[in-house]
Amino acid sequence: MYFAWILLISSFEAFRPKPRADCPDEDLALTCDSYCYKDFVECKDSCLSSGCERECLATYTDCYEVCPCFSKCPLGCADCDNSICSCVSPQENNSLYKQCIDEASTEFTGCVKNCTASPTCYENCFSGFMKESEKCPCNAKCELGCPCDDGYKCQPFITAICQYSSNHFGYVMSADGHYKEDRFYNRSYPFLHRAGHALLNGQMMIFGGDQDSKKIGRIDGCDLVDTGKRLINNFYSYYGALVTVPEVHEETILCEGYNGKSCESFDGSVSLAISETKEQHQYSCMALYENQALIIAGSYTNGTEVLSVSGWQSEAEHPEGDLYGLSCASVDGGVLTIGGYSGGYKKTVYLFKNEQWTLVGELKNNFYFGSMMMFDDYFIAFDGYGDYQVERAEWNGTHVTSSQTLSSHEVGCYRPIVFESDPDQCSQFCSNDFCYV
Ligand SMILES: *[C@@H]1O[C@H](CO)[C@@H](O)[C@H](O)[C@H]1NC(C)=O
Ligand SMILES: *[C@@H]1O[C@H](CO)[C@@H](O)[C@H](O)[C@H]1NC(C)=O
Ligand SMILES: *[C@@H]1O[C@H](CO)[C@@H](O)[C@H](O)[C@H]1NC(C)=O
Ligand SMILES: *[C@@H]1O[C@H](CO)[C@@H](O)[C@H](O)[C@H]1NC(C)=O
Ligand SMILES: *[C@@H]1O[C@H](CO)[C@@H](O)[C@H](O)[C@H]1NC(C)=O
Repeated sequence: MYFAWILLISSFEAFRPKPRADCPDEDLALTCDSYCYKDFVECKDSCLSSGCERECLATYTDCYEVCPCFSKCPLGCADCDNSICSCVSPQENNSLYKQCIDEASTEFTGCVKNCTASPTCYENCFSGFMKESEKCPCNAKCELGCPCDDGYKCQPFITAICQYSSNHFGYVMSADGHYKEDRFYNRSYPFLHRAGHALLNGQMMIFGGDQDSKKIGRIDGCDLVDTGKRLINNFYSYYGALVTVPEVHEETILCEGYNGKSCESFDGSVSLAISETKEQHQYSCMALYENQALIIAGSYTNGTEVLSVSGWQSEAEHPEGDLYGLSCASVDGGVLTIGGYSGGYKKTVYLFKNEQWTLVGELKNNFYFGSMMMFDDYFIAFDGYGDYQVERAEWNGTHVTSSQTLSSHEVGCYRPIVFESDPDQCSQFCSNDFCYV
């Protein structure tokens, strides 16, 4: 048995697949395959049957075939989505590599500055840097790129910006809150003041606001531009609610909430009136429920409505009553609401699923006119006018299991504009009156 196994492995070694001869990314190809092979050897090592060995071989095949220069990525890293391809020129193209190196060098600089005139101290700082940089994506402890098994924590970064007279803020933050740094956009106040935001076809759109309540703007790199396109109704981020729905082409549904029940749909070029909601939802919020827009409660109603092809349909009422200033986001098969005001500020989290509402948790802080971002197993809430905090809550699919305050805004600002971005997004941006390097 043991002998046969040796034979199989050694004969296999002779036929071990090789990357294409003209491979443009040969080092990465070999590294990639070597990880697959290492797993294969370990897998076989623990086998007691030939069936098990065949399974190991099948797993190995699936693994190396998607390595650059093997059968499923014949052009090397061009047109290949293997994580190791983020390591082609990581210093240019891999934002998490750059961020990791940046964090390690900041620590190194701080360490050196702490030294007395002592070469030993500098050397110690340097070996600290080497140790940290090893953990960076594409380096020794994370050769395959993100996610790293036990190297750098590869995580999303989120940009948050808001304008309200002197209450400006703009920063990028890691999803665990450990990294937070100011970011500067060309923000001629009050362009964003009380304006709504929604991603439409991958672009962050800006709707209405105090500066021009019918404008349709866009975040373009580090600049805020007016597209010249117009809404039908006035839109303010606190009165109204909006969400982008995945129709044949994406469309952003906006309900104004200010004067009445009017809603419209913007498809990227024009905005058209759509049916009115049954009730007026003022200071409400919208999220996707089974790919349809769901509008929830408000200062005059506990009603929930979903936008179907035949118009808005009533759904179960929100248990908190006439809840307003709440935030919401869609989760697998449902919608979460957090915070709001109804006879008092709320910290509660509700889930709408299978046409009914259930209480699924409580946060540490009040959230009022905030914004939230949902990830697979957590969400991050950015407050507007509650306790001014940023809080991260872990979500197991049915309940909030724990949460922690990540940082504070210190000021109030309605519905912060939040979106996922590279960590170095707009870190080098200069504007007319401010330059950040
Ligand atoms: C990496 O960046 C360089 C220069 O910016 C570019 O030419 C190259 O195509 C990029 N590679 C990938 C895989 O994106
Ligand atoms: C510098 O020294 C201070 C005081 O010993 C310490 O608290 C701090 O962490 C050091 N900074 C770095 C970057 O090592
Ligand atoms: C919603 O409000 C109506 C009118 O005030 C009330 O009759 C109903 O019980 C409320 N629904 C819930 C779930 O609290
Ligand atoms: C989620 O957490 C809740 C409360 O801690 C627990 O009762 C529930 O079983 C968990 N659900 C899953 C899918 O793990
Ligand atoms: C900032 O925006 C103003 C007005 O929109 C524009 O004129 C200016 O060129 C922008 N500045 C930069 C550095 O992009």
